[in-house]
Amino acid sequence: MPQELPFAAPASEIALEAGALLREYFRRGVATEYKGDVDLVTEADRASEKQIVERLHAAFPTHGIYGEEGTREGLDREYRWYIDPLDGTTNFAHSFPVFCVSMGLEHRPAGLAADQDGELVAGVIYDPMRDELFTAEKGRGAWRNGQPIHVSPVKTLSEALLATGFPSRKRHSSPNIHFYQECTLRSHGVRRAGSAALDLAYTACGRLEGFWEFNLNPWDTAAGVLLVTEAGGTVTRFDGSPFLLDSEEILATNGALRDEIVGLFSDMFAGRNLLPIPTPAEYAAARAQQTQP
Ligand code: IPD
Ligand code: CA
Ligand code: CA
Repeated sequence: MPQELPFAAPASEIALEAGALLREYFRRGVATEYKGDVDLVTEADRASEKQIVERLHAAFPTHGIYGEEGTREGLDREYRWYIDPLDGTTNFAHSFPVFCVSMGLEHRPAGLAADQDGELVAGVIYDPMRDELFTAEKGRGAWRNGQPIHVSPVKTLSEALLATGFPSRKRHSSPNIHFYQECTLRSHGVRRAGSAALDLAYTACGRLEGFWEFNLNPWDTAAGVLLVTEAGGTVTRFDGSPFLLDSEEILATNGALRDEIVGLFSDMFAGRNLLPIPTPAEYAAARAQQTQP
């Protein structure tokens, strides 16, 4: 990564430091609290956000900050950081070593309406368990540990590895299990590793051909969206229209797969071309017949 990157370079130092803090908490073990019925939070989430905010004050005193654990500062400023101090809290709380720090920077020129998106200009995602630092700066490219990254060249869904996630809030009103089913039946597989920011980083560096999820927040997506687009991929809503930070849905792809996945999702929302699988009862009945003497 070029050292002169004005935003991503200082933010990388901050993310590395926050990642080291998370690693320490992870080794020690932390108590878990509930924000909702299955929405977890730990002391590590809060300590990481506190430290990131302090470091951002020092590095970028004129910038605003919007953090998952409650920071709302200077939201009328020209630059705004979206901070997820620990993406993958459920994994973290269960000692499942897949989580990261995510920091995305939006440029909001004067005169932009409060409900309009500015331009994402920098993104940093750090995985402290693998010591992998993903960075991007608008118009300059994307890197993993300083090496340029690009999306995968795979051209068809049938050869793709995908990822998704399931919300911890309003679980019973999400239809995503149906999308999981259809995509699993049509691809090499769908991973559900539990960190949306890492799913986006992995799409950017070609480990995944695509990622989708319902109901993410700007702190989950801001950094990863820029990583994917700077690495040559696309980020849209499910119908292929432009992604916005407060979009209810995100579809990130390597570009080559965008139209095929948008077409599949359109079919799914219309109830067309669904691939049948047996219900558990049908499966049990068929199995019972097979085992009859
Ligand atoms: C969660 C993770 C997970 C996704 C959830 C997010 P958190 O973020 O990104 O992969 O499926 O929708 O809320 O709560 O661990 O920061
Ligand atoms: Ca998150
Ligand atoms: Ca979080």
